Amino acid sequence: MGYLWSLVFPTLFLFLFSLLFSSSTIVKAHQCHGTESNALLQFKESFVISKFASYNHFSYPKTVSWMPSIDCCSWDGIECDEVTGHVIGIDLSSSQLYGSIDANSSLFSLVHLQSLDLSDNDFNHSQIPTMIGNFSQLRYLNASKSGFSSSVPDVLTNLTYLQSLDLSHCDLYGEFPVGIFHLPNLTTLVLAENRNLNGVIPDFQSRALVNKLIIPATNFGGRIPTSIGNLTSLKWLSIAECNFQGSIPSSFGNLNQLVHLDLFSSGLTTGNFPLFFVNFTQLSFLDLERCNLTGEIPSWIMNLTSLNHLRLHRNMFHGEIPYSLFRMDNLEYLSLGFNMLQGELELGLFLKMRRLSIIDLSYNKLSLLNEKGSFNATLPPLEVLFLDQCNLTGRIPTWIMNLTGLQWLGLQENYLQGEIPHLLFSLENLETLSLSYNSFEGELESDMFLKLKKLIYLSLSDNKLTLLPGKSSSNGTLPPLEVAGLDSCNLVEFPSFLQDLDQLVSLRLSNNDFKSVVPNWIWEKKSIENLSIFNSSLTGEISPLICNIKSLVLLDLANNNLSGTIPSCLGSSSQSLQIMMLPGNKLFGHLPQTYVMGSALKMIDVADNDLQGQLPRELVNCRMLEFLDVSYNKINDSFPYWLGSLPELKVIALRFNEFHGTINCPSICTFPKLHILDLSHNKFSGNLTPKMIKNWKSMTTSNISQLQYEDSAIHIPGKFWFAYIFYSFTMSNKGVVTDYEHIQKTFYCMVAIDISSNRISGEIPSVLGDLKSLVLLNMSNNLFIGDIPSSFRKLSNLEALDLSLNSLSGKIPQELAELTFLEFFNVSFNKLSGPIPENKQFSTFEGNCFAGNQGLCGIQLKKKCEDGSWSSPTGLDSDHDSGSIVEFDWKIILIGYGGGVVAGLALGNAFGSDILIWLKGCVCL
Ligand SMILES: *[C@@H]1O[C@H](CO)[C@@H](O)[C@H](O)[C@H]1NC(C)=O
Ligand SMILES: *[C@@H]1O[C@H](CO)[C@@H](O)[C@H](O)[C@H]1NC(C)=O
Ligand SMILES: *[C@@H]1O[C@H](CO)[C@@H](O)[C@H](O)[C@H]1NC(C)=O
Ligand SMILES: *[C@@H]1O[C@H](CO)[C@@H](O)[C@H](O)[C@H]1NC(C)=O
Ligand SMILES: *[C@@H]1O[C@H](CO)[C@@H](O)[C@H](O)[C@H]1NC(C)=O
Ligand SMILES: *[C@@H]1O[C@H](CO)[C@@H](O)[C@H](O)[C@H]1NC(C)=O
Ligand SMILES: *[C@@H]1O[C@H](CO)[C@@H](O)[C@H](O)[C@H]1NC(C)=O
Repeated sequence: MGYLWSLVFPTLFLFLFSLLFSSSTIVKAHQCHGTESNALLQFKESFVISKFASYNHFSYPKTVSWMPSIDCCSWDGIECDEVTGHVIGIDLSSSQLYGSIDANSSLFSLVHLQSLDLSDNDFNHSQIPTMIGNFSQLRYLNASKSGFSSSVPDVLTNLTYLQSLDLSHCDLYGEFPVGIFHLPNLTTLVLAENRNLNGVIPDFQSRALVNKLIIPATNFGGRIPTSIGNLTSLKWLSIAECNFQGSIPSSFGNLNQLVHLDLFSSGLTTGNFPLFFVNFTQLSFLDLERCNLTGEIPSWIMNLTSLNHLRLHRNMFHGEIPYSLFRMDNLEYLSLGFNMLQGELELGLFLKMRRLSIIDLSYNKLSLLNEKGSFNATLPPLEVLFLDQCNLTGRIPTWIMNLTGLQWLGLQENYLQGEIPHLLFSLENLETLSLSYNSFEGELESDMFLKLKKLIYLSLSDNKLTLLPGKSSSNGTLPPLEVAGLDSCNLVEFPSFLQDLDQLVSLRLSNNDFKSVVPNWIWEKKSIENLSIFNSSLTGEISPLICNIKSLVLLDLANNNLSGTIPSCLGSSSQSLQIMMLPGNKLFGHLPQTYVMGSALKMIDVADNDLQGQLPRELVNCRMLEFLDVSYNKINDSFPYWLGSLPELKVIALRFNEFHGTINCPSICTFPKLHILDLSHNKFSGNLTPKMIKNWKSMTTSNISQLQYEDSAIHIPGKFWFAYIFYSFTMSNKGVVTDYEHIQKTFYCMVAIDISSNRISGEIPSVLGDLKSLVLLNMSNNLFIGDIPSSFRKLSNLEALDLSLNSLSGKIPQELAELTFLEFFNVSFNKLSGPIPENKQFSTFEGNCFAGNQGLCGIQLKKKCEDGSWSSPTGLDSDHDSGSIVEFDWKIILIGYGGGVVAGLALGNAFGSDILIWLKGCVCL
């Protein structure tokens, strides 16, 4: 629920911001100079007034009062010098100005200007004019939220009197002139929210910058200079979301006049909670979210007596929460979520902190003890209570029902049980209610939560609830619900109230049992971004109406009984679509043929349907594509070498289709990020050429950690919802068909090639041994001949190697004994001969793994070799324990199962179960 926090923060920020900046007083003087008056009038004329140019609700066009007949010194926003009458201040903040300021603007003739506030207007992506250097007297410059899109002009370093510079929320780019930091009188520098601005914080030679330094600009980096400790009077410091390196210098401890310190995700490595904070007794706002802090939260934290806002979210704190924290009576905002804090705590401890309005303790290892009975003390004015995954048991605490100001309540992933008390639905200020992943039971009528007229986010998923559609949906106004999580709610029909919710952005209805078609009104929800209804017995077709949902980002209709074709628009109608999950249905026809340039698609999973035809060549437009799974269909195509041009593609799964022809590329195809290639159970033929293998460059690194997925999931952040999508698919490993779920997480290093069960012939190219990151290599059931390349010894990460059911001959290279990770090795049913390599690893593989090779000998086969060690010229014993089987020519067995191509080997439906068990038995135990 972290995303909700981002809402609180800017609000507080803006509030404080406006407090600090609203004090510019306008002094009215006598006579305005005619030239200045004219210059201002000309300046006024260069803009259009537009309500949309300002964010502030209270904005109004100040220039409307600028009239030639009136002394300019009394115009709205104009300040003149009392003695000279020169214009020295212009405040056009939130004045609805739209247009641009160019170099010859009459504004620049007002050379006596000391204060210029242009914030909150729309200068239409124009440059900050360098003529601003003309204002040599300027002390105060505010161009925050002014719609400039600009580099920061060097001439600002000429403004030696400058005390305050605010260029926040512009679209600044390029290098920030270091000289500005050195301006002798600069006390306030605000650069917040300029994502493309680069820069460093230079050495501070002086004690200037006594007030504020705010640089949350992603590309600011480098080290924080030790000399920052010279800014001993600094009150505000914010370097959130920067890209700094190194640790906080200890001189930081000198900044003990700080009132506001924000190091949120600044990139600094911070270690333990720094002891020098203990002297920061003025501090009222401390944000150390995502600072990699470790150790315990110190008990002296209570010495920060002025603190009312403490954010320690997403660090690595462990240990118990110090009891002293509960004595910090001024705390209003406390977020400790996403750490590793532990211990048992009475919830009542928090409830005694009398000012607390926001608590987040989610996702630690805490065990919060639910109050038994009712809680007597006066409750704090809680507005936000997040206790997700806090090991809460029993029923929903009754005191929650008394928190009349509560807006966000998160209790998901606990062990709460019983019915959801109806009183909860009388908390009329609730905007977010998340109760998913508990054991709530009983029936719940939708009328209950529809009473919450402010509800935006509702999640009831994965309890034991039965959601009843409710009696009447249009009884009064509905809440402005944007997120509805109703997975596993025992729904048998689509709740009709959903039909009337116009603002739905995320709708989850998975794991219900609809046994019906998706009603058309769902496809008509034009604002929807996330539509997830998997495992819900849906029937019928995916309506082409879905093409009208332009905002769709995630579509997951996996594992239903959907039939019909995939609407042809699906690859192109929504530019925002990232995830298309349709596996496990009965969809037929072709894959959508059009994919527009700039497509956001990252994942296409249509496995296990009845799709036919070719792979659409337009997939090359999906430059973001990471995952393509079309397994278990009837796709009839040649090897899609052209996918090699996709820069992010990591997984290609084509198993069980009708792909055919040689696996090669006519020219160069690099597959720059390929991790997993599953071509098994198709009709590929011809030779596997060294040239082709060299294209799988990404697999040649032996440092397997380089192949870790950058993220543990595809993270899709919405405004009020988010999703983590994991790659999952089916592949055979170690002779067993295995469902891989969450591969980025659990199998982050999975690097695999499976070309088994095709008709690939010729020798195995020895360059295959260069694919050093391979974990799994399955070439079983093809027509390979010749030797097993000894270069395989270089596959040092290999865990499973299956070469069974080919016509390989010669000896098993002794060098394979070097493969220490090898857990599975199967060369059964080839024409191999000679001794089985002897070492620890190989001695663990059972006889089955070598059977069906007339000439092999070794202890595993209970057959001595000719040189005297373990030779038994009569062949295999037929009677011995579990593993051993009768010698036979495997080709004879196979003839009965489809003439050469053995489909279903791994599925276990073609072979006798004994053979299958025996093939599986090649796992090292
Ligand atoms: C402003 O600074 C520039 C260098 O950035 C310099 O060339 C110029 O002379 C300065 N102008 C004034 C008016 O000081
Ligand atoms: C800085 O401000 C002080 C007054 O606060 C003033 O006396 C001094 O001249 C200023 N310095 C410069 C370089 O502008
Ligand atoms: C600023 O800090 C540096 C390093 O911490 C120090 O060497 C220098 O003397 C300080 N300058 C002033 C003016 O305090
Ligand atoms: C914080 O820790 C994580 C994981 O240990 C690491 O990937 C990241 O680079 C660290 N960040 C900083 C700023 O040190
Ligand atoms: C706190 O301030 C005192 C007095 O200035 C100083 O002696 C002490 O070292 C400071 N403590 C820390 C941890 O920096
Ligand atoms: C915290 O404050 C108390 C008294 O106000 C003081 O005795 C104690 O030493 C302080 N703790 C630290 C770590 O400075
Ligand atoms: C709560 O208040 C009631 C009446 O005011 C009192 O009888 C009861 O003992 C109190 N319970 C606790 C736990 O303080």
